[in-house]
Amino acid sequence: VIVTLRITVIGTGYLGATHAACMAELGFDVLGVDIDERKIEQLAAGQLPFHEPGLPELLKKHTASGKLRFTTSFEEAGAWGDVHFIGVGTPQKPGGYGADIRYVDAAALSLAQHITKDALIVGKSTVPVGTARRLACLVQEKHTGPGTIRFAWNPEFLREGFAVKNTISPDRLVIGIEDRDLDAEAILREVYASQLAAETPMIFTDYETAELVKVAANAFLATKISFINAFSEVTEFVGGDIRTLADAIGHDARIGRRFLNAGVGFGGGCLPKDIRALQARVSELGLDRTMRFLTEVDEINLRRRDRVVALTEEILGRLNGATVGILGVAFKPDSDDVRDSPALDVAARLFNAGANVNVYDPQGNANAAKRFPRLNYVDSVPAAVRDAHVVILLTEWQEFKNLHPEDLNGLVANKIIIDGRNVLNVQEWEDADWTIAALGRKFEPSREAIGLNAPV
Ligand code: UDX
Repeated sequence: VIVTLRITVIGTGYLGATHAACMAELGFDVLGVDIDERKIEQLAAGQLPFHEPGLPELLKKHTASGKLRFTTSFEEAGAWGDVHFIGVGTPQKPGGYGADIRYVDAAALSLAQHITKDALIVGKSTVPVGTARRLACLVQEKHTGPGTIRFAWNPEFLREGFAVKNTISPDRLVIGIEDRDLDAEAILREVYASQLAAETPMIFTDYETAELVKVAANAFLATKISFINAFSEVTEFVGGDIRTLADAIGHDARIGRRFLNAGVGFGGGCLPKDIRALQARVSELGLDRTMRFLTEVDEINLRRRDRVVALTEEILGRLNGATVGILGVAFKPDSDDVRDSPALDVAARLFNAGANVNVYDPQGNANAAKRFPRLNYVDSVPAAVRDAHVVILLTEWQEFKNLHPEDLNGLVANKIIIDGRNVLNVQEWEDADWTIAALGRKFEPSREAIGLNAPV
């Protein structure tokens, strides 16, 4: 008799909800667990509280069929599950740079107290190195019920907008286990049998390596983006074209073109917090100098936001009283996420400097309005740019990449646009008599463009 493993997923945020629905799609019976009752009710009703392509369909299908259920009860989870994934959040500590891992601790502890049969706990959250080994001990200490608990760490690399694809067919699987824990290894091979059949590389290693792989990957990506953005600062000064530079170095296969898009920089729930948490963790370990370059990576990234604000002021002469049309507020396209969004940060700063800020994002308005309610959120490009003294493109949605000068002519007060993501055809806009300033390009406005157009 083949008995399929019963899977629980603790935490039903971005990571957990995606993992739970994808595991059901792979054929497992899945129980999603969260302490947030409202969230659980919503998910059980088949409603996804965030935007992710392909996920609502999976959630509806499997909640309807009963393969995917939700609960707030750790007792139920501990008695039922064979494999328990922990996918709770590890936000930045309030007032600090380190990761707040209290939710991971609480989840592991609750599981340990409620597991009543042989089970494997698998951590997926992004955590400071050392967490897995500590929790592996803690879990054994707190477990008094029947059954043996095994412990593994299996970091998640999912990217928003690609979460379903990244979970069903990941680039690689990384799994940290206790030395020679062949049972844990066998169970995870069963969980990931379909990925293995598709020849996904599966790397078994120790806890520390598994934890570090995740933060190393994110630190590398963040560094790559800040690297090109640092060159932006140079090309803005001496002249040159950052896009061509990125294309040219990207042709070297060792470098690669991806994640070399210069612009207003990275944001979101992962890269900014993860590079800060990594630095905090290594300094805690006494390795103060080791990750110091990440401070620079962070600073270069934040300077891009300053640059957009400064450029806007330079162009208009003053921000107070100016009308600004902002295109994009999500931290990246195809997402409704505004966590640490460079776009929302810039919009808020312009508002705080006295500008009237109209914002349009195809998906992000609602979340942005929760964080920064005082901006004027509108539901179309024309509404955002109407009477604008300057238009600023900050998130490269396809809808914005497709914009042409004639779409905005007649609506704006000034034909001035700042391309914060380097996605517009500069020549086309200049030919249509627009003043266009793109990050990473030297900006040499004509006398008429600057000053004369300033609001009074
Ligand atoms: C990231 C990692 O890609 C993913 O592997 C990890 O598991 C979680 O963190 P995500 O935050 O969803 O995923 O978004 P990503 O697509 O990586 O973009 C991050 C930020 O970098 C966005 O603000 C994006 O606009 C910016 N970015 C990305 C650039 O500025 N330039 C680029 O070339 C690429």
